[in-house]
Order: sequence, then structure tokens, then C-alpha cells
Amino acid sequence: MAAQVVLVPVDTIKNFIKDVLMGIGVPADDAEICQSVLIASDLKGIDSHGVGRLKMYYDRIKDGIQQPTTNFEIVKETETTAVIDGHHGMGHVVGVHSMQMAIDMAGKFGLGAVAVRNSTHYGIAGYYPEMAIENNMIGLTFTNARPSVAPTYGVEPMLGTNPLTFGCPTDEDCSFVIDCATSISQRGKIELYDRAEKDTPEGVAIDDKGNPHTDTKKLLKDLVSGGAALLPMGGATEELGSHKGYGWSVMAEILCAALQDGSYMKGLLGFDDEGNRAPYKLGHFFLAINIENFLPVELFKKIAGNICRELRASKRVEGEPRIYTAGEKEFESEKVRMKDGIPINKNLQKNLIAMRDELGLLKYKFPF
Ligand SMILES: NC(=O)c1ccc[n+]([C@@H]2O[C@H](COP(=O)([O-])OP(=O)(O)OC[C@H]3O[C@@H](n4cnc5c(N)ncnc54)[C@H](O)[C@@H]3O)[C@@H](O)[C@H]2O)c1
Repeated sequence: MAAQVVLVPVDTIKNFIKDVLMGIGVPADDAEICQSVLIASDLKGIDSHGVGRLKMYYDRIKDGIQQPTTNFEIVKETETTAVIDGHHGMGHVVGVHSMQMAIDMAGKFGLGAVAVRNSTHYGIAGYYPEMAIENNMIGLTFTNARPSVAPTYGVEPMLGTNPLTFGCPTDEDCSFVIDCATSISQRGKIELYDRAEKDTPEGVAIDDKGNPHTDTKKLLKDLVSGGAALLPMGGATEELGSHKGYGWSVMAEILCAALQDGSYMKGLLGFDDEGNRAPYKLGHFFLAINIENFLPVELFKKIAGNICRELRASKRVEGEPRIYTAGEKEFESEKVRMKDGIPINKNLQKNLIAMRDELGLLKYKFPF
């Protein structure tokens, strides 16, 4: 049975995230950045990457594999490029500062590209292109992640779910933002099935013989032990395009590791040579493109908007009410959730209460 869900006002969740992070040593300005990325996820309806992930960061900081203070080191810099070492600090802080650097470079020279090593989980990739959009730019970002995805015809989890994310402004209120993993599903969604006490749909993951794996609790364990793998976008076979998701994932892995001498694939397992827990050493890549360097930004927006409108107005499958363009669902969710609040299910309620009580944040009287 699906766990009971309670709606909590957005401001309560925002303040709680910030207070929890500050309670475990994240400086106030950085906690504000993390809060802003996490709540953006909840507002967009991406429940896998919002406040639901707070306990993960909390535990990692307590376990000493993630640093609450972020030492954002510029290792190498030119007019249009930079290499950053995040020194295992807060991934959201590393992400926001890196994207801002790319935007600043693009503002001066048309393009800005920033490669990052030794970072941690930076949340929804879509947050960062939206920073570029606010500056009338195109934004792209990629990240690698703990290995969980098998290559086409493999069973071993080798690649992360490695999102490939692009965003640009249009002449509508809603931008075009395609923000998704290069696997059919991503680990956060499996954790979400777990919190909601649901099976994982068939076709998303395989066991070590290549058979479908749907037992969510076991899958989460098997993904860590190497006894299961998620499938790349396209699925298990070439007929359905498995090799395409696999290839895009490798591209993200290369951009997130090879340009900055960073760790990759099994180097991101989060264990040292003795088998002790260790930082994940994630890599990211950010690219900002200044539209005005190509053509007047209003013309770009009009063309991008026309492309989206023509797609949405095209002929539909009978019975299907609507064709979407990427970014629309999140844009619409934001409006609803700002008003209604953030859904918190039973297992997440337990997490929030555990952190609240441990930190003595007793001013938070949740409606559960
Ligand atoms: N930090 C990490 O390591 C990491 C790893 C994987 C995923 N993620 C994040 O998880 C989030 C969810 O990823 P996901 O793979 O589950 O995404 P998803 O499968 O839910 O797809 C979301 C994207 O598809 C678009 N979309 C949805 N329905 C559509 C439709 N009918 N027509 C057109 N576009 C449509 C959405 O607007 C959005 O851009 C993303 O924000 C991603 O960045 C993060």
C-alpha cells in the first residue's frame, strides 16, 4: 500500500533544509544555496532529488565523506575555461559557483566551460542551465555518478546515471529544459519507489544474469554490491536503442572525468582500497553559451518558442490529451506546489523527524 502523504508548506521545508544543513556545519550562505537547489527540485515535482535527499547529505557529512565547508579551488583558468577541485564539499555549492563562472565567461567572451573534479552529488542537473537562462544564455551540464548502469549487453554496473541536461530561453514563460538521466530510471527514482513501498517497473533494471529485477529494496542493495544494474536509455537491446543511452552516458563520463583528471566509473564507488567509506569524487561539466553572440536574443527566443509550439500543436495519438515539450511539467508543478506545499510521504516523515530531533530543531512542528 502506498505510504501516507502529507503536504507541508514550501517555506517550512525551505527553512528546515537550511537549518539542518547549518546544524551540521554548512555555512549559512552555502546552506542557502543547497536549500535553493533542493527546494527547486521539490517544486518542479522531482521528488527524488529534493528534501528527500537531505538525510543522504546529512549522513554523508556525519560519516566524514562529504565536507560541510566547500573549498572551491580554481586549479586552472583561461578566459573561457576553468578546472575546479571541489575538495568533497557541497556539490550544490560547487555547481552554482561553477555555472556562475561559466556564465561570467560567456558574458565576456561568448562561451564559458567549467570542468569539476572531487565534487559530491549536486542534485537536479536542471538547476544549473536555468541559471544560464536567467542570463539569456543556453546552459548545459553533465555529471557522473556512482556506477549503477550496465553497458549494452553487459550486466555489471559500470556507469552512473549521468544526466545530460540542456536548457534555453524561449519567448514563453516556460523555458525549454531537458533534464534527465541517460538511463531509463535513476537511482533517486528507485529510492522513491522504496520510500513509497513500490516495486520497480520491469525493464528498468536487471540482475547479474540479465533477468528483470523489480524487488526495489533488494535492487538498492544489489546496485551497491554489483549484483544488479540499471539499464541505459533504450533498454537492454540495440533494437530499442540501448546503445544510444549507453553512448550518451559515456560522453557525460568523459566530459566529467577526462578534462579534469578526475575519477570515473568504479573510482566513484565511495570506498577506499581497504573497503572503508570514502568521498565519491564526482565530476561535473558546465557550459554556458551567450545567445547574443550569435543573433539578437529575442529572435532566438521566438524561434525556440516556435519549435516548441509547433511540436505541441502536432497531431496526437488518439486518446492522448496533450503533447509536452521538456520543462513544461516542471513549470506547471511549480505553480501548484508553491500553493499547495511539498508532499512528504511516511518514510520521509521519519527522516525529517530523526534529523529534527537529533539537532534539537524543535521549533519545527510538522503536520505529521
Ligand atoms: N545528480 C545526479 O547524480 C543525478 C543523476 C541522475 C538524475 N539526476 C536528476 O534527476 C532528475 C530526474 O531525472 P530522470 O531521468 O528521472 O528524468 P525524467 O525521466 O523524469 O525526465 C524528465 C525530463 O523529461 C521531460 N519530460 C517529461 N515528460 C515529457 C514529455 N511527455 N514530453 C517531453 N518532455 C517530457 C521533463 O520536462 C524533464 O526535462 C533530473 O533533475 C536529473 O538531473 C541527477
